[in-house]
Amino acid sequence: MYEPGLIPLSFLPENKEFPMSVLATRITPNSLFFLRTHAPYPEHIHLQRWRLTVKGCVRRTIRLKYEDLCALPHSTLPVTLECAGNKRVFFEPKTQGIQWGIGGISHATWTGVPLRLVLEMAGILPHASEVLFEGMDIGPRTDLPGSFSYCRSLPLEKAFHPDTMLAMYMNAEVLPFKHGFPVRLIVPGWYGMASVKWLRRIIVLDHSFQGPFQSRDYVLLEQPNDYSNAVPVTRMQVNSVIARPIDRDVLRRGQHEIYGVAWTGTTPLKVVEVSTDGGETWYQADWVDEEEQYSWRRWRLNWNVLIPGEYTIMARATDGLGNSQPSKTAWNVKGYMNNSIHTVHVYVE
Ligand code: MTE
Repeated sequence: MYEPGLIPLSFLPENKEFPMSVLATRITPNSLFFLRTHAPYPEHIHLQRWRLTVKGCVRRTIRLKYEDLCALPHSTLPVTLECAGNKRVFFEPKTQGIQWGIGGISHATWTGVPLRLVLEMAGILPHASEVLFEGMDIGPRTDLPGSFSYCRSLPLEKAFHPDTMLAMYMNAEVLPFKHGFPVRLIVPGWYGMASVKWLRRIIVLDHSFQGPFQSRDYVLLEQPNDYSNAVPVTRMQVNSVIARPIDRDVLRRGQHEIYGVAWTGTTPLKVVEVSTDGGETWYQADWVDEEEQYSWRRWRLNWNVLIPGEYTIMARATDGLGNSQPSKTAWNVKGYMNNSIHTVHVYVE
């Protein structure tokens, strides 16, 4: 029997795509959830010795054991995670970075402690402005000497948002090691870089954090090294992809289903339209899934094709604010946030 697997893009550090062409359920099984890592995995984690430290601009530093977090109130939320580099392969001219296709995205149900509970336990001081999250993975970079742990900060408002979570479970299983065990951050509606894995320290800051994963990566640059005009990557854009048919498929004449998935950051989706003639005519697709905040939504369209030849199939999502996917996303040096219309070419015999 055919067993789908992740699509490898790099092995050390490990980066692998969700195989979008086998999309079957709304929830991505943990074994098929895409993997994005910047450094080798952290060394073996001794859970007995592991602590989550909360310090900085707080009334009291706290050090939480795994059991302490287990004992705090938990909430559960389905959230789609999309890497900011998803669909980078479609940028022309090519940009730097791992050439993600359409599978740098997956969907899971996350369970854990609302972050604000832990921040309230430590007590934020009035001059605080940001919250920094430090992962346990450390690695070199190509642009700077030395080694860096994966660190990112959030503005206070997002850190205190009731849905921002310290996740300990993924799809009702203990968080898998490669997805950040024992505890990772989940920042719903933002691109995946914000959801720091393998947490060990949370530091409340009174200034803006400038680490390389914050100020050099995950920023939109029009010109190489023009960091003074960098725009940070935050909220996910309206987007969609066609899961099936796959690009360069050969189909028989007759009935086919065009099937895919659409998503946005914080606003709801409104419609997905599909074209089979390269964008001349558009038809409204049917939703497979209910609307659910932070969750991708599968869609489908029946296609009865009678004339043999080449067809160009396109899908275009629009959100509730009227933002539609562009035919071409504005190019940026590091190739982030590509939400251009996904196109596949098929041949009908
Ligand atoms: N956290 C740590 N500690 N190290 C990382 O390399 N990668 C980030 C984020 N959190 C990363 C991290 C990026 S860019 C993404 S897209 C998501 O984790 C991917 O999460 P996943 O590997 O569970 O899919």
